[in-house]
Formats: sequence, C-alpha cells, structure tokens
Amino acid sequence: MQVSNEGVQGLLDALVDRLIEQGFVRTPRVEQAFRAIPRHLFVPGVPLEKAYSEEAIVTRRNPEGLPTSSSSMPAIMAAMIEQLDVQSGQRVLEIGAGTGYNAALLAYLVGLEGRVATVEIDADVADEARDHLRQAGFPQVRVVTDDGWFGSPEDGPFDRIEATVGVWDLSPRWVEQLHAGGVLVAPLWLRSGLQAAVALRKENSHLRSESVEPCGFMRLRGPGKGPEEYVTVGEWSIAVDEVSSSSLQVLREILQTAPRVEEAPTLPRGWQTYFRLDEPEAVSLTRNEDWRHGLIGVFDPEARSLAGVEGRPGAQNSRVVVFGGGHALSRLKEALARVVELELRRLRIHAFPRGVSAAPRPQRWVVERPHFTFVIENP
Ligand SMILES: C[S@@+](CC[C@H](N)C(=O)[O-])C[C@H]1O[C@@H](n2cnc3c(N)ncnc32)[C@H](O)[C@@H]1O
Repeated sequence: MQVSNEGVQGLLDALVDRLIEQGFVRTPRVEQAFRAIPRHLFVPGVPLEKAYSEEAIVTRRNPEGLPTSSSSMPAIMAAMIEQLDVQSGQRVLEIGAGTGYNAALLAYLVGLEGRVATVEIDADVADEARDHLRQAGFPQVRVVTDDGWFGSPEDGPFDRIEATVGVWDLSPRWVEQLHAGGVLVAPLWLRSGLQAAVALRKENSHLRSESVEPCGFMRLRGPGKGPEEYVTVGEWSIAVDEVSSSSLQVLREILQTAPRVEEAPTLPRGWQTYFRLDEPEAVSLTRNEDWRHGLIGVFDPEARSLAGVEGRPGAQNSRVVVFGGGHALSRLKEALARVVELELRRLRIHAFPRGVSAAPRPQRWVVERPHFTFVIENP
C-alpha cells in the first residue's frame, strides 16, 4: 500500500494524540520528539496501521517461539522517556537497541550537542538498528554490539541510562558509569511477575526513586539475567522468582486436576500489587492465549495446593479458583484480609548496594538481589 508523507504524518500524529490523551506523553519536548520520528522506519515490512498502533511489534523470536526483540509499546516508551527527563546536551546510554526507535527519540532529545550510545547483545539486531538510525537521520547514535549488563565505559560517564529490557537486579557497572545526580530508568522485576519501570536518581550512598510506572518487558539475556522466569505449564504461563524443578512438577500435576471455584471477596484497588509484594508464597499465572486472563494467589508445593483470584477480561465478578488441597485457600484468605489499596505509581523504591545498611522505615518490603537491596515503601 502506497501512503503519502501526509498520510504517514496523519497516522503518527493520531498515535501521539492518543498518547497525550492517555497521559503517557506529558511534556512538549517528548511530544515533539514523537511527532518528529516516524516509527515505521524502524519496523520495515510492518503494515503502517500496525506501525502506528499502540502495540509492541515483535521483530525476533527464539526457536521456542518466545520474543527476543521488539519495538516496545509506544505508551511504555513514552512513559519511560518522560521518567528519564532527558535534557539537551546530555550523554545517554540505552541498554537494548532493538529496532533503534527509542535510541532515535533519545538522540532527538539530547540534540547535536549531546550523545547517545545504545548496546545490543544480538549482532544482527544491532546491524539493523544502525541501518534504521542512518535512514531516519540519526547516524550519530553509536550502536555497540555487546552485553549491555556491563554498560559502555568508553562512551560514559552518562547523565542518563535507560534499560529497555527487563532486569532482576541493577548492574553495578551502570551505577559506576552514571554521574552523581544522574537518572537510571529500568524495568525492574520486583516479585512474582510484578515489574515496574523505576526512575532512580543516584545519590551519595544509594539510588532513590523519583517515579514508578507499570510495565512489562522481555528479559535481559546473558550473565546479568536473574533466576526469574516465565514458565509454560500447559495453557498457563507462570511467573516464578526462583525455578525449583520439584515445585514446578507439583504445579504441572495439580493444574491438570479439576479446580473448585468460589466467590471472591471484594478487594481494594491495586490489591494485586500489595499482595505480590507482601505474600512470600505469591504466584501469578496467565493464560497463554490471553494475558489478561489469569490468577494471582498462593502456591504451597508441600501441601500440593494452589488458590488464586481470577481475573477475566469483561468478567463482572471475580472468583477464587482452587487446585489441589485447601491449604493454599486458607493462606490466600488470610493474605487477602491484610491487603490495602495501593497505587503502584506511588511506591517509593530505594536501591542500596549490598552491604550498605538501610535505615528501618514504616510500610516497607525488602527485596534482596545479588548486587542491590531494594527497599520499597508505600507512603
Ligand atoms: C524490548 S527490546 C528493546 C526495544 C528497543 N529499545 C527499541 O526501541 O526497539 C529488548 C532488546 O534488548 C536486547 N537485549 C537482551 N539482553 C541484552 C543484553 N544483555 N545486552 C544488550 N541487549 C540485550 C534484545 O536483543 C532486544 O533487542
């Protein structure tokens, strides 16, 4: 299909208008950047309607069919670029070049006085990103083929670092390569599939969040990848923090049995976030054919029991679904009695290098990772 330049600009403008309306694009500078850069140049061969839709566009899959590279959802890209608060003249590092589209937006924002480097682990993806960036008029962006877990010391130090791939921990190299007062934005896996894009400002002894946004990213690959996984069991995809083969085997077995169903209690807004942070045995499952259809609940491998509150698109009432024995159901009920309303965007997250002690604070959860301890507050 041949579409005129005006036609393409119309599709792009309509997408940006929607991003503004939905509150993802918030500042005139980010709006200008989005209006100036045609997304279709970064996803050649994709129909224009799709290139200018809100969808993530998968560009590579592994032999199992799971996505390994994509152009992320424009809404999440916009929200994270707003979080990053890029100023002209700055030096910016991106982890995960993918198609190069996000790097082009960053290059527009820093202008010719600034510099953008982006690191991509797959050589062929990096080659394509270079081509796209050249064709879109951003040949100055340096695309480095390497493992982004180590940053890019020869291009730093940086004022801003953005990971566009999901992480389980922060790389100490990123923090070393970030100027004092600089901002790092990363999609951080908190617990049992709960991910959040966290903007962290580097202070003296630690990093402190300035904003938190909901997100869902594919995982970082290489040695920096954590033990967390999405595991497929039959029709379910299960988010697990640590894979233990014996408990997975129990899950496989009980998910094949017929579930019992009962009515769920009325729950406060954002209960899923509170629950996953607060309940050590929390588990989240989504149906492979529709990620909006899932269960969040408790799994007790010893008691061979799983109970979860079901979320179904378009469903009026929630239900509790129980597989195996009743132990997980009692535990779920106790945990649900504790949940309070929680807005993910209001969380405050502190990242302390391991070994630096964190002062006790009220209403907090602590997530320990090999390099950083994350203290999460619900103010
Ligand atoms: C969601 S895509 C990034 C989207 C991209 N910023 C864009 O605008 O198209 C994630 C990318 O991270 C890359 N990636 C995964 N692990 C990586 C690593 N350790 N270092 C660098 N890149 C990595 C993947 O190959 C993939 O291209």
